Amino acid sequence: MADGLLLVSNLSVRFGGLLALDGVALEVRDGRSTAILGPNGAGKTTLFNAVAGAVRPSEGRILFAGDDITSIPPHRRCRKGISRTFQITQPFSGLNVIENVAVAIVSRGVPMAAALREAADYVAFVGLEAKSAAPARTLSTGQRKRLELARALATRPRLLLLDEVTGGVDQPSVPELLDLIRRLRVERGITVLVIEHKMDVLHGLADDAIFLDRGRVVTSGSMADIAAHDEVRRIYLGDADAAA
Ligand SMILES: Nc1ncnc2c1ncn2[C@@H]1O[C@H](COP(=O)(O)OP(=O)(O)OP(=O)(O)O)[C@@H](O)[C@H]1O
Ligand SMILES: [Mg+2]
Repeated sequence: MADGLLLVSNLSVRFGGLLALDGVALEVRDGRSTAILGPNGAGKTTLFNAVAGAVRPSEGRILFAGDDITSIPPHRRCRKGISRTFQITQPFSGLNVIENVAVAIVSRGVPMAAALREAADYVAFVGLEAKSAAPARTLSTGQRKRLELARALATRPRLLLLDEVTGGVDQPSVPELLDLIRRLRVERGITVLVIEHKMDVLHGLADDAIFLDRGRVVTSGSMADIAAHDEVRRIYLGDADAAA
C-alpha cells in the first residue's frame, strides 16, 4: 500500500432528497495534516461523520490502514485508531476536566486510578492543568475545545478528525489552538484531518487540502493551489465571512 492512512473513494451520503456528499474521493497520508475546506453546508461534517461511522454512506468505500471500515460500527473504528472532536463541544458538564478525560480512558478498559494518572498527561498536553479540578461547565469556549482535544487523545488515536477547532473561539486564543494542532503531529505522531470554514486559518499548518462545495470535491492539492483555484475564489467571493 502507498502511504495513504485513510482512503475514501466514491463516497456518497444521502439525507432523504439531499445528496450531502456526492462521489467524494480523499487520501490522507500518514503523518501529515490535511485540511477540509469549504463553505457552510458543503458536507465537511458529513464527511467526518461517515469516516467516524456516525452516518452510513449510500455508496463508496472507506479504507483505514489498509482495512475496509465502511460498514463497521463507530466504537470499532475508534479502537482501530480513529478519533474525532465535535463542532459543538459535548463534555460532561458536571464532571471536572480530569474526570472528563478519565471517562474516555476508562472506556478503553483502564481502571479508574490509572485512568486519572493518564488523564493528567493529556490535560497537561493541551495546557489545562490549572483547570484540572474545574467543572467542565465553567470553561470558556477555547478551554472547552482544549478539553475536547484531551478527550480525543485519551482514545490514543492514529488519526484525529478535528471539526472547526477555532470556530466560535475568541481571536487571541486561535494561534495557541493552531500550535496545539501542530504539536499533535510533531510530538505525538498523530495524523490530523482538520475542518475549517475560514480559508486563511490553516496556512502554514496543513500540508494537503481538499475543497468541498455542495457535496463535491472542487479541487485538492496544497493550500496554495487551493487558494489560487478559480472556482474556489469565485465561491468565496460570495462568502465574504469565510474569505475574511
Ligand atoms: N442528519 C442530517 N439530516 C439531514 N440533513 C443533514 C444532516 N446532516 C447534514 N445535513 C445537510 O447536509 C448538508 C451538509 O451539511 P454538513 O453539516 O456536512 O456541512 P458543513 O460543510 O459541515 O457545514 P458548516 O460549515 O456549516 O459546518 C447540509 O445541507 C445539511 O443541512
Ligand atoms: Mg460542519
